[in-house]
Amino acid sequence: MPRVAPSAVGVPVSRIRELADIAMRMDGVLRLYFGESNLPTPDYIKDAAVRALRDGYTFYTENAGLPSLRRAIAESYRRLHGVAIDPAGEIVVTASGVQALNVGIRLTLDPGDEALVLTPAWPNGASIVALSNAMAREIPLPLSGSRYAIDFDALEAAVTPRTRLVVYNSPSNPLGWVATQDDQQRLLDFARRHGLWLLADEVYDRLNYLGGRPGEPVPSILRLASRDDAVIVVQSFSKAYRMTGWRLGYLIARRDLAQKAAQINEFIVSHAASFTQKAAETALAEGEEELPGMIQGLRQNRDLCLAALRGMPRVTVPEPDGAFYLFPRIAGVSDSFAFCRRLLEETRVGLAPGVAFGAGGEGSVRICYAAERAILEPALERLGNFLKQG
Ligand SMILES: Cc1ncc(COP(=O)(O)O)c(C=O)c1O
Repeated sequence: MPRVAPSAVGVPVSRIRELADIAMRMDGVLRLYFGESNLPTPDYIKDAAVRALRDGYTFYTENAGLPSLRRAIAESYRRLHGVAIDPAGEIVVTASGVQALNVGIRLTLDPGDEALVLTPAWPNGASIVALSNAMAREIPLPLSGSRYAIDFDALEAAVTPRTRLVVYNSPSNPLGWVATQDDQQRLLDFARRHGLWLLADEVYDRLNYLGGRPGEPVPSILRLASRDDAVIVVQSFSKAYRMTGWRLGYLIARRDLAQKAAQINEFIVSHAASFTQKAAETALAEGEEELPGMIQGLRQNRDLCLAALRGMPRVTVPEPDGAFYLFPRIAGVSDSFAFCRRLLEETRVGLAPGVAFGAGGEGSVRICYAAERAILEPALERLGNFLKQG
């Protein structure tokens, strides 16, 4: 009997999905396990998609995405980061951030190659490396004081002749850690010195609580890198515009990689859906008014959750600077999946188990605080009571 290829069988399941699959079969769960709000996409974006359908955006587009959307993305990088990106050659629209990650990793690794992945991290990066028949070496970010830091010595020590790629995510899912400019420069220098690709997952760049005005992005690595650097930026419309279900993202990369990405897109999804691309242009054009309010709300949620967690027994939690997650460590938890499952079954609160996020993640849980307070407040109360009971 033909069997599923062993290289595919060996790809690990997402332990976030595993927990979510159990939760989705239950009623009345307070869902804080996925990286999304309970609020839907804003109306001005939904209306734009309806308009686009009516206007005939129902046909195939270019593999790299609509030229008008790529121009709008380039314009937003010019405005927000002061960098000039060529919309015709350096941007590829993808059917989600995950797909951008997938194509970026696929184009940098051959079977048997190695990638260095900073963890704890959203598991998809390491799993896509495995899907490419390559190996991910996880390099945990140690907590130094109340801040996570990159262990550059561990990065240096992990380089082998097969290393081709470094993957990091800032603002981080699940840590909320934000790379400093010095971190970014050192990562870039490290990649240049060893001749590696540097993949920066910046999908949470607008969810930034570090000074500035709300909505001001975390500085992109593209401000430091030249367009000839071997740098790939992964982006998404999911987080800043609450468009998770739409599956729309993009990558920005050195011209040769971007062109290849557009070409192989033909054999993956060909291109992202036409009318969603058109709606994304509206998100970029009109979203700036809405973003500051959303960020302020998220910051208030973060502070509410931090205060509640700090009053709970066994919990230590650093203050995150970006994204919309808290990653508290819970003393005595050595199997975070079993802990989350019991919490779910006994209290109907759904959290993501820390073990899902690779090296350095076990013993913690991830809470997404993008939900409304009517969900967050009872969830925190139930978690606190659960911990008090031991
Ligand atoms: C770090 C990170 N990168 C990329 C993505 C991809 O987002 P999407 O595929 O919804 O665009 C996510 C989603 O949770 C994420 O957390």
